Amino acid sequence: RFQRRNRPCRYDIDRFTPSFLSIFESLVPSEEEIAKQKQLLTSLSRIINKEWPNSKLYLYGSCANSFGFSNSDIDLCLSIDDKEMSKVDIILKLADILQAGNLQNIQPLTRARVPIVKLMDPETGLSCDICVNNLLAVVNTKLLRDYAQIDRRLRQLAFIVKHWAKSRRVNETYQGTLSSYAYVIMCIHLLQLRRILPCLQEMEATYLVTVDENNCAYFDQVDKLNNYGAHSRDTVSRLLWAFFHYWAYEHDYTRDVISIRTGRIISKERKDWTRRVGNDRHLICIEDPFELTHDLGRVVDKFTIKILREEFERAANILQFDPNPSVALFEPY
Ligand code: CTP
Ligand code: MG
Repeated sequence: RFQRRNRPCRYDIDRFTPSFLSIFESLVPSEEEIAKQKQLLTSLSRIINKEWPNSKLYLYGSCANSFGFSNSDIDLCLSIDDKEMSKVDIILKLADILQAGNLQNIQPLTRARVPIVKLMDPETGLSCDICVNNLLAVVNTKLLRDYAQIDRRLRQLAFIVKHWAKSRRVNETYQGTLSSYAYVIMCIHLLQLRRILPCLQEMEATYLVTVDENNCAYFDQVDKLNNYGAHSRDTVSRLLWAFFHYWAYEHDYTRDVISIRTGRIISKERKDWTRRVGNDRHLICIEDPFELTHDLGRVVDKFTIKILREEFERAANILQFDPNPSVALFEPY
């Protein structure tokens, strides 16, 4: 391991850039699909606002953070200030409202960790999940979208990493591997270390909200930063190599926490994440940008950490040696 830390990137890595970029292009949703999602948001908002005029419906997750593949599911969040009703009551009433609004396959899931209503809209053919008052997710969705606007390489890198994670089955939080959200944060962090992205939360705050006692503040005028990474000539293939090389051979799993909030690596000690507490094992530590006690790696256990690290090494070695990395990388697990 030690010797591989300083291994130089293969000299001909850029030969593979066109094929990685064409994989990226093939995963991007069409304008038509994005328009349909907006249409669904508008029609559902209209139905729900009739009953709850002070509520607001937001898109969040992959369909709004700009890291969504085509045909990915749609996540919606209903923000509603009703002191009388519990979340479960709201979910049940919401299901009734949607039923009356002619939506199909309506399923209130009140016992899930995050209670939701599932539905299908016959007009657009889209299915979606609606949760209630999960505003932190709406705010972190905006942060990811804002980062994606600064340098196009973030979106390219994150799409390919997500595609790799889905192909290799290491994007399943219920099985103990990482969420798509965590992978995007890992990509942002790498680009911050390479000065291709700034650290928006360390800059003067132009966007400030408080959600469940978490202060969310950062510089969101990202149109002023679209030259930020221009000094770097790194291509998406080189960044992919760097991503996997970092997680295979450079990251110190015993000591380090990656933090896009600070744009740095911080210590587990400082976060008090050095030992298992309850179900949080902290075997790979990824700080949530706003909910600072939340380790996005907490789902990983002593079995899945091995699987993850083996997959990082496999990917790093493919990018280093394989004659056809853009095929081998995504070989189904
Ligand atoms: N989220 C979160 N905390 C987590 C996981 C997810 O706040 N630990 C929120 C984020 O706002 C994220 C959204 O839930 O954007 C959806 O998460 P996820 O399914 O991981 O990401 P998607 O971008 O929807 O990816 P996919 O394309 O795989 O559906
Ligand atoms: Mg999703």
